[in-house]
Amino acid sequence: MIEKYTVRNLNNKLIQITNGNGIYLYSKGKKILDTTAGGTSFAVLGWNNKEINKSITRQLKKFHHLDYKTFKDDNVEELSKILLSKAEHKLDTVYFSGSSGGEACEAAMKLSYLKHCADGNNSKVWFIGRNQSYHGVGTDALSIAERPTMNIYKPLFPIKRSRIEQHHYLKERLDGETEEEYAVRSSNLLEKEILKIGPEKVSAFIGETIMGGLVGDVPPVKNYWKYIKKICEKYNVHLILDECYCGLGASGKIYCCDYDKITPDFIFVAKTLTAGHIPLSAVVTKKKFINKIVKKFGKILHSTTFQGHSLGIAAALAAQKIIHQKTVLQNINNNGNYLKQVLVDELKNHEFFFDVRGRGLRLSFEYNCNDKNKFGITLSNRMLEKHNILLNSKWHRVCLTPAYIITKSQCDLVLDKLIKEFKNLSDSWK
Ligand SMILES: Cc1ncc(COP(=O)(O)O)c(C=O)c1O
Repeated sequence: MIEKYTVRNLNNKLIQITNGNGIYLYSKGKKILDTTAGGTSFAVLGWNNKEINKSITRQLKKFHHLDYKTFKDDNVEELSKILLSKAEHKLDTVYFSGSSGGEACEAAMKLSYLKHCADGNNSKVWFIGRNQSYHGVGTDALSIAERPTMNIYKPLFPIKRSRIEQHHYLKERLDGETEEEYAVRSSNLLEKEILKIGPEKVSAFIGETIMGGLVGDVPPVKNYWKYIKKICEKYNVHLILDECYCGLGASGKIYCCDYDKITPDFIFVAKTLTAGHIPLSAVVTKKKFINKIVKKFGKILHSTTFQGHSLGIAAALAAQKIIHQKTVLQNINNNGNYLKQVLVDELKNHEFFFDVRGRGLRLSFEYNCNDKNKFGITLSNRMLEKHNILLNSKWHRVCLTPAYIITKSQCDLVLDKLIKEFKNLSDSWK
């Protein structure tokens, strides 16, 4: 789509916004309740948050950015301490990798490779991802993911990359297969792939902790990540978890993988880090890895101009101080569970119902009908036009990823309108 001077990659009508406040966006006199957290689930503390705005302004008065590798900024260390403070896993250090999630993904891949090289395992150059995943738009991040709309770039992909099947019990289970049997079979796909490539050649396995971006908020079955971790350890393959979308509170815990009681080797985070205020991403990992890399190479052989951007760090510091409060995490869990439960209770017997799933405030409601994409778009349009509720419908599902500050009465309003419009629309959708 081309405006007068600007190219964008969307073909839907853009919504003109004048300002935001709390969970609401304002458009031409209309007050819109946003269940998308800014369209792509990043504005997790809503808009016009006084603490974050103050922190950014205070930083701006000092300096807007100083190079991460050259200058000391006390905010960086304070932020890392907070980011590690509620972790149940055992990762103990933070590397600020750049602006975007895609950059963080590629930084984690490079750190994984560097660590193997530091150990003398220079042949570990393969990376394995999963189908139905997304980790960013760089060719390396795309090459271990599966985003059909980007298939045109396949000829540009690095070659030592492979993928295994998605992890999705409801879609992939065999007849009569229990969750435990599926956990074993699904994780064994990784072992088979490692053996096919040769364990001495595989650097890392990469996955979103809950499959989010494409299939929509599919939590793993119990023990899946434990089995994956065991396989990774057996073959000295790193486990890299992508928590750009599901991390830093979104799942109801600071780290989504803490539900699965594992310590991966790397977790990368981005969009929720500054609650969307300034682009910033980070890789959480092990001090001993970094020490080994630095001992071997003298430094981390990776750098970007805006890594650890001082304004981003200031924004993240204020955002994470809020997110790490017990009451905020409780709100995410209470309202997430409530949204899920009411949707299940009200719609489970509806002929279009497939499932409602997710963790915390990362939820998807999937339906089965003709032309699901059109159904979703029509549903979203009705919610916006009739009720001033912004709803993200994607292909086969409605996503509910509101800001963590959503209240129970706002949830009630969304549920009431969504359930009614869903039923009304489906009555005419035969
Ligand atoms: C799970 C996941 N990983 C990585 C990314 C890439 O983040 P970015 O767009 O900041 O590069 C996204 C973006 O939507 C995502 O959802």
